[in-house]
Amino acid sequence: MLRSTALRSALRTAAPSATKRAALASTTFTRNKATLPDLPYDYGALEPSISGKIMELHHDKHHRTYVNSYNTAMEKMEEVQSKSDIQGQIAQQPLINFHGGGHTNHTLFWENLAPKSSGGGEPPSGELGKAIDTSYGSLDAMKEKFNAALAGIQGSGWAWLVQDTQTGAIGIKTYANQDPVVGQFRPLLGIDAWEHAYYLQYQNRKAEYFSAVWDVVNWKAAEKRFQ
Ligand SMILES: [Fe+2]
Repeated sequence: MLRSTALRSALRTAAPSATKRAALASTTFTRNKATLPDLPYDYGALEPSISGKIMELHHDKHHRTYVNSYNTAMEKMEEVQSKSDIQGQIAQQPLINFHGGGHTNHTLFWENLAPKSSGGGEPPSGELGKAIDTSYGSLDAMKEKFNAALAGIQGSGWAWLVQDTQTGAIGIKTYANQDPVVGQFRPLLGIDAWEHAYYLQYQNRKAEYFSAVWDVVNWKAAEKRFQ
C-alpha cells in the first residue's frame, strides 16, 4: 500500500502539466516530414527526350521511395538520439545520406527540366551564360564536357554543374550513387545517370539520353541558383 501510494505520488510528480504536455507534443510531432513534390509539368511533357512512362516511374515510384525511406531513417535517428545511442546514430548516417540525397537530387532535377513549350532547351542567359562562355568557351563545349563526365560515371550517379561557394567559379563534378551536392559546392544543374532515368526508353544507348536531355533542360532554374 505504502509502495503503491509512493508510486502514485511519483507519477503525479513526474506527469507534466497539460501545458507542458502540449508543448512536448508539439516538440515531438512538428518535425516536417519530407514530401514528394508535384511536378510542374505533365509526365508526358518532356517527350520525346524523356518518355512519359519513365517520368511517371521515376517520380512516383523511385523518388517517392527516397522520400519515404528518408523519413523512416530520420525517425530512427530521432529514436537513437533520444537514447544517446552513438553507434545507432552512426549507423543511420549512410541511410540519411542516400535517401536524403536521393530526395534532394531528384527535387533539383525536376526543376532542372522543362517542356520545350515552357523554355526547355533555351540556352542560359545573364551571368550564368557569361560564366559558361568564360569557363568553357561556349555552351556546346560545356555540354560536351558534361556529357563526357556523365559517360564516365561507373554504375549509378549524377553529374552536376556546380558553383564553388568560396571562389564563385563554376565546374562540372560527378557524384556516386545519391551523394548530394553539399558543402563547398552549390548545385546548379544536375543530370541523373542512374539506369532508372533512361533504360526503359534508351536501353544501353545512354549517350543518346545524355544528348537528348539537353532539349528539355530548364536553364532558368540553374540561373536562379547561380550567385
Ligand atoms: Fe533518379
